[in-house]
Amino acid sequence: MSSSPFLRVWQPDLFKDKVAFVTGGSGTICKRQAEALVTLGCSVAIIGRNSEKATAAASELNQIREDVRAIGIGDCDVRKLDDLVRAVKKTVDELGRIDFVICGAAGNFIADFNSLSANAFKTVVDIDLLGSFNTVKACYNELKKNKGVVLFVSATFHYYGVPFQAHVGAAKAGIDALSNALAVELGPIGVRVNAIAPGAIGNTEGYRKLSSGSPMQKKIPLQKLGSTDDIAQATIFLFSNAAQYITGTVQIVDGGFWHMGPLVTTELYPEQLLKRLAREPKL
Ligand code: COA
Repeated sequence: MSSSPFLRVWQPDLFKDKVAFVTGGSGTICKRQAEALVTLGCSVAIIGRNSEKATAAASELNQIREDVRAIGIGDCDVRKLDDLVRAVKKTVDELGRIDFVICGAAGNFIADFNSLSANAFKTVVDIDLLGSFNTVKACYNELKKNKGVVLFVSATFHYYGVPFQAHVGAAKAGIDALSNALAVELGPIGVRVNAIAPGAIGNTEGYRKLSSGSPMQKKIPLQKLGSTDDIAQATIFLFSNAAQYITGTVQIVDGGFWHMGPLVTTELYPEQLLKRLAREPKL
């Protein structure tokens, strides 16, 4: 554990006695977020549709620290409020409380408008947007009691018109709107609400689907793909007291990629730009 990248930046007991409720916690990104929280002393409930995956993720997390517990709760579909109410009850029964909520459950596939049925569109909006709403709804009493913090998982697709992602962009735009409104409504009871928008994160199902084999690194201003650690570090910050005055924001973690716009397709970037940056500056 001492080699953990999280301990190079943060205090080991930053989240001691805290408890996080993480939907989609068996997925690549959210599992790393959960690992970061456990490393810093937070107990975690991993919520998923697939019981085996949720249990397996929890048993991996239980190897990190002896004084911290992780539990896996399967058979929970975020589209069903009753499933989440049951998962919240089990979490509170077993871990005592909920301080942090990550609404990470999401669905994604590549589909152009013509191939997208109304049910396919609804399915993604239901999982991502309604599922995020249901998660906060089910956790509300705990969030209120403990002055908790919510983290939605958004994206950057809706900042421009990303093809093949109309369903996901629409759902994530809704998540940003929900996040903003809840930040304003729940602020007076001490609950902070933010979203995180990952860019191209290597070794994830989402990146494999969207990059379709062509490397994108050169088109990202920081010249590399993001990692799940990058998302986890931003998550720690937003849950920590260092962010105690931050609510209603979307933290983009994408190496500056979304600013690229149409330059994504030109040779100007980065080859010609790098040549120019190597010259003496003109004063
Ligand atoms: N292209 C077009 N439509 C698709 C599709 C694809 N690749 N995959 C699913 N759909 C459509 C289905 O055809 C169905 O619509 P229809 O009834 O009109 O035929 C609708 O979406 C619902 O699909 P279904 O598989 O019944 O829904 P589900 O609730 O079981 O699962 C997903 C939905 C999105 C979770 C599922 O597609 C999936 O498992 N995706 C991979 C996992 C994933 O998305 N992980 C997140 C990575 S970021």
